[in-house]
Amino acid sequence: DDTRIARISSAIRVIPDFPKPGILFQDITTLLLDPRAFRDSIDLFVERYKDKNISVVAGIEARGFIFGPPIALAIGAKFVPMRKPKKLPGEVISEEYSLEYGTDVMEMHVGAVQAGERALIVDDLIATGGTLCAAIRLLGYQSARKLFHDMDGGENRPKILERVGVDVVECACVIELPELKGRDRLGDKPLFVLING
Ligand code: PRP
Ligand code: MG
Repeated sequence: DDTRIARISSAIRVIPDFPKPGILFQDITTLLLDPRAFRDSIDLFVERYKDKNISVVAGIEARGFIFGPPIALAIGAKFVPMRKPKKLPGEVISEEYSLEYGTDVMEMHVGAVQAGERALIVDDLIATGGTLCAAIRLLGYQSARKLFHDMDGGENRPKILERVGVDVVECACVIELPELKGRDRLGDKPLFVLING
């Protein structure tokens, strides 16, 4: 595994001052240019998840759409896209989450997953963890939605989500930026990463 991790790590390009000064951007497009390293990254995830009874892989737009589907196909799970707003044509549920400046919204189709399913969430990178947190909440709402709307909201919400949500088995990313402590924001949800950026 060390050989494969090293190959993946050296295939990822680091670009300073993108998208703004002081940021070291982890560019996975160069990993995609190296078929052996790209395959290594998918294989490492597949080896970890193939016998974990995962029925759904949820991938986060945009870069989670690159790594999620090949993992889903290899482990025999369905793939569910978690999209930017106003992209999905059917009935959606939405979740707002905070960015460094301002907020963004993530959406998924109602009915894409059922209560009791075992989900793996895939993205390319965890920085602050806000994006993965929103995905975890969305998968929880999916089955809690009916109950939640019958209640008065507010305090009861987290309890309901814990009881009836889809079981998020793990979050998986290629890269973690550990100094941003995004892992701590995921609560009890396990996080698996291939490399530290
Ligand atoms: C990047 C990255 C993760 C997210 C991580 O996506 O691909 O999805 O940020 O950040 P966080 O842990 O601080 O939430 P971005 O929103 O830049 O969009 P993209 O994937 O569509 O390029
Ligand atoms: Mg992203």
